[in-house]
Amino acid sequence: MKVTIVGAGNVGASCAEYIAIKRIASEVVLLDIKEGFAEGKALDLSQTATTLGFNTRITGVTNDYTQTAGSNVVVITSGIPRKPGMTREELIGINAGIVKSVAESVLVHSPDAFIVVVSNPMDTMTYLALKATDLPKNRIIGMGGALDSSRFKTYLSKALDKPANDIQGMVIGGHGDTTMIPLTRLASYNGTPVSQHLSTSELEDVAAATMVGGATLTKLLGTSAWYAPGASVAYLVDSIINDQKRMIPCSVFLEGEYGEHDICIGVPCIIGKNGVEKILDIQLDASEQEKFKKSAIAVRVMNGALSSNL
Ligand code: NAI
Ligand code: 2OP
Repeated sequence: MKVTIVGAGNVGASCAEYIAIKRIASEVVLLDIKEGFAEGKALDLSQTATTLGFNTRITGVTNDYTQTAGSNVVVITSGIPRKPGMTREELIGINAGIVKSVAESVLVHSPDAFIVVVSNPMDTMTYLALKATDLPKNRIIGMGGALDSSRFKTYLSKALDKPANDIQGMVIGGHGDTTMIPLTRLASYNGTPVSQHLSTSELEDVAAATMVGGATLTKLLGTSAWYAPGASVAYLVDSIINDQKRMIPCSVFLEGEYGEHDICIGVPCIIGKNGVEKILDIQLDASEQEKFKKSAIAVRVMNGALSSNL
């Protein structure tokens, strides 16, 4: 199986590394516009193969899409990352042009590929990729909910002082500081509701920390995060390539689900060899429904800025 990652920066390279280490695909192509950059990252990563014990072939190319031919999955991590104080929304103008041209270019050589969109503002970029390529909706998947959910579970595990892998939880809605919805009501510690272990105010603190999770890291690092984002993309790619059929919150095109139409936003999906195999219709309570509606309004406002790119 072959995966192409367009954008060999922090998230793209980290994703390539996890795909190789976890033996998710036999071949990874990193592509970047910066001369020699993807080649350098690929060479460096390849030289970890014998110490880390993987055989994934990693190659790097400068803007040469012929080398990406026959990819099963294409990940779009090209674009500029958020700088301190910059909102994801401010990224839109620059990243829209990049995402559109990349999506069109990869399909010339890999017409059957599934496309995973990571570049921000991710929900809007996913919508743009779908509209620009006209691909069926099961083949365009925005990654954000997997990352936000892993941050949510990490903050829950800290608040509970319990192992992270004993925690279940999910974040839906837009991938934005004010638009994501950590579903605290449904989160659990080994099958027991977290509300039996944490107070309402503790749960509110966890939700608040999750929502600014990306911004917190951007402030600390001077650029946006890459380890957890790269790992979350690899997790999603694994579910497609190895037909894991995991339930992952992803930004996908809605046609009536959750009361929304003509929008890409995070909802729980079954992800397998056919990409988005099912959108799960989970029962939200009135307050969650209200938050979802508000989140969709905010994503739609951002999509409005795409008019010149559609
Ligand atoms: P980065 O700056 O480290 O890497 C981006 C790479 O894209 C650079 O190497 C750049 O040369 C390349 N690039 C730019 N235009 C290109 C083009 N037309 N074709 C090919 N390559 C091109 O940025 P980083 O940290 O890797 O972030 C990448 C994107 O992912 C950003 O938009 C960031 O906001 C987003 N992101 C999204 C997350 C999510 O959960 N959806 C999480 C983390 C980052
Ligand atoms: C993140 O959540 C900025 O989307 C990026 O880390």
